[in-house]
Order: sequence, then C-alpha cells, then structure tokens
Amino acid sequence: MLSARDNELITRVGSGTPIGDLLRLYWIPFLFSWEVTADGNPERVRLLGEDLIAFRDTAGTVGLIQNNCPHRGASLFFGRNEEAGLRCVYHGWKFDVAGRCVDMPNEPAESDFRTKVSARVYPCLERAGVVWVYMGPQNPPPPLPGLEWLDLPEDHLVASKRVQDTNWVQAMEGDVDQSHLSFTHSSLRPAEDPSDDPRIAQIRKLDKHPRFEVVRTRYGTCIGAGRKAPDDQRYWRITQHLMPFHTMTGPYGKEPLRNWRAWVPIDDTTCVVIGVTFQPRRPLTVDERTRVRTPTWSWTIAPEHRAPPTSRAFGRWRSSLGAHNDFGIDRRVQRTETFSGIPEFWAQDAAPQVGMGPIFDRTTERLGTSDLAIIAVRRRLLESARALQDGGVVPGEIFDPACYAVRSDALLLGADESWFEATTERRKAIAGVNPDCA
Ligand code: FES
Ligand SMILES: [Fe+2]
Repeated sequence: MLSARDNELITRVGSGTPIGDLLRLYWIPFLFSWEVTADGNPERVRLLGEDLIAFRDTAGTVGLIQNNCPHRGASLFFGRNEEAGLRCVYHGWKFDVAGRCVDMPNEPAESDFRTKVSARVYPCLERAGVVWVYMGPQNPPPPLPGLEWLDLPEDHLVASKRVQDTNWVQAMEGDVDQSHLSFTHSSLRPAEDPSDDPRIAQIRKLDKHPRFEVVRTRYGTCIGAGRKAPDDQRYWRITQHLMPFHTMTGPYGKEPLRNWRAWVPIDDTTCVVIGVTFQPRRPLTVDERTRVRTPTWSWTIAPEHRAPPTSRAFGRWRSSLGAHNDFGIDRRVQRTETFSGIPEFWAQDAAPQVGMGPIFDRTTERLGTSDLAIIAVRRRLLESARALQDGGVVPGEIFDPACYAVRSDALLLGADESWFEATTERRKAIAGVNPDCA
C-alpha cells in the first residue's frame, strides 16, 4: 500500500507537482512521424495536463506549441499551417516552430510589438518514425535515451498507440506485474498460451506463484520472475522498467520479436501507451506483422475494435471496447475458452485497471510477495521525485543514454543459477544480435 500522501505524489503530473516536474526531465514519445505532414493539418496533443498543438512546418520540422494563442487565447488547432509557421485564424498572428511571432498582420506595420511576443513551444526530435518532446528546464536538453529500436530501420518495427482512461502508474504497473500472466491472459486451452510453446504453457499452469527478485539498476529496475520447471530447472521471465515510464516485458521463442512500451501521462486520469514491437536483426516478415495485430497476441488495438477517429488529443487511438461495454466480456467464453472472457490482449489488462477507477486509492491495497516489483518501481519513482523536489537532484540516468541499451529476456536455467548473472550479456542490446528465448 501507499500512504495517501505518496499516492497523491506518484499520480499527479501537472507542472509544479513533484512527479510532474520529474517527468519533465525526460524525453517523452507522443506522436508518429506520419501523423503530421509538412503544411498539413495541426494535431491536438495533451501531455502532463497541458493542451498543445503539433504541426509540421514547410521545411519538415515538427513543432509543439501551446494550444491557446498568445494574443487572446484562440485555439491554434484551427490555425492555418502555411509558409513556415502556424497562423491563428482569429486575428492572423503567426508563430514558427521555435515559438517566435513571425507575423502580426492586425498591428501597424511600424509596430515592433511582434518582437515582444512569443509562444510556449517544446523542442521535438524524430527517430525511427516516432516524435519525442522535451518539456523540461535543461537547456540544451539531455540526449535521447539509447533504446535499441531508435537505431533500427523502420521496416524492422511496428508501432502503435492506445489511450487508457486511468492514471499512468496504474496502467504501467500491469507490465511490471508478471504474476497476472497465469490468470488474466491465460487460455483454458493450454495450446493457446502466449508463448506458443506447450512446455512453457505447462510451466505457467503448474507454478502460478513465481518467485520475484528485483535488482536496482542505473536506468531503473530489473525484475526476475522465476517459475519451477521440470528437470530441476527454473523458467525466468525478465522485465525491465526504465525510468520513468518505459517497460520491456520478456519475449518468446526463437529469434524473438522484442517489445518496448512507454506509459505516457496525458493528464492525471488518462494515459497513452505507445509501443514498438521490433526485430533487431532483420525486417519483420509479413507473417510477423500480421501476428502483432491479432487480438489474442498483441497489446495493440485490433483493426475491428478501433473507435472511429476524432480530432481530440490522441483521438485516433481509442477503442470501441471500454468501460461502457465492459470491454466486450463474453461470459460464455469466460466459462469455456479463456480465463478472462475478454477478446483482446490489451483489454484483458485494461478492464481490471480501468475498473479500479481513474486513480486507485492505494491506501486500501493488500500487497503480497508477488508485488515485490511493483513496490520497487514505485519506490524508485518516489525517491527520484523527492530528491528533485527537496534537493534539486536531477537523476543521473538522464545524462547516460547508453544505460538504456538493455533488453528483457526469458529463459530456462538450473534451479540454483542466478538469473541476473546468467543474463548479463543477453540483457545488453547489441546491434545484429538477438539471442533465442524460451
Ligand atoms: S487570438 Fe490568435 S491572433 Fe488573436
Ligand atoms: Fe498483461
């Protein structure tokens, strides 16, 4: 459980809050490059409780500017994106991606008022088809984290997003918690285990209380969940939590597809999950691309369950499954086919999490031994937020992008082997290398 004070501290993301100020020290992924085109339509964005407008200017640079025009507050969403800037439709003031007011047509030509006005903008960078923003005070901003997929060609990866109507920590905790796999995502037909391997399905079925171990690292927390396996072995799944909101859960099988997700706060009660599934060694095959989009395998919204797109912030990334229709639960399927009866993998997580309410009151929780990783990740976030608030301490990992070049893992080891030592090399992201997993 958390105290009421810590629950407030970890969940409130506005500017001036301890965790909000901490989050603003890190680069934040939020947009796909294809979502904004040169001189094309502006996009509404909302991050950390701030309403913003993204646009790509004539030269191809992405800008992220305050929603309210600095003149009298009209929404720049309605602006004209033309000739290297976004022009407000109310009185024609125009701003470039650096926030400079480059035209003020309703003031006399001889006035220098234009040079005294600027808009709040945040610097953006694009890598591997994803746009990142830095909303913090460091000038220049720190480097991007050295995640391995950022250096891959775009045909090696599939990226998607989805909006969830809960606080971001509540959503992220699902990835940190390996214990729910034996339940939420399990099939009543063992052949349909997400591992696609009857051996692993059997292990998961026989040992439903994995032994959890956590190791504090430079970048965050490395989490091992070990289950008893036949022949005096142990099946370890290794999850990474990278500060502040990145997760990598263990992959499956030979030459596995790897995954990364960021749990980005839209505001206190909504988050957007942005994720990439990738193959480090080669382009994805057609078959792999298809598999990533199937409801039983993937964390992305399957095409048949996408909600019609809207122009609200992240309005392209909502599902027709939600609290209003109980995430499509089918009680017959729950009795006979799957543990949850919920049709899509991501919705099997979202249904219990949204059911907690937008911000769960963690003072009422009863945490057990299987919640060790949740406790460790919360502690790291709270410690960093307090150190920043009390002493102005900026976390070291922000200036050490190489420490983010890590991987998750899944493997069988001898019962007495140390999972952390045995995977020292396998957890390093090495270009062109992709060890098989169990
Ligand atoms: S409100 Fe934007 S130009 Fe007047
Ligand atoms: Fe899950």
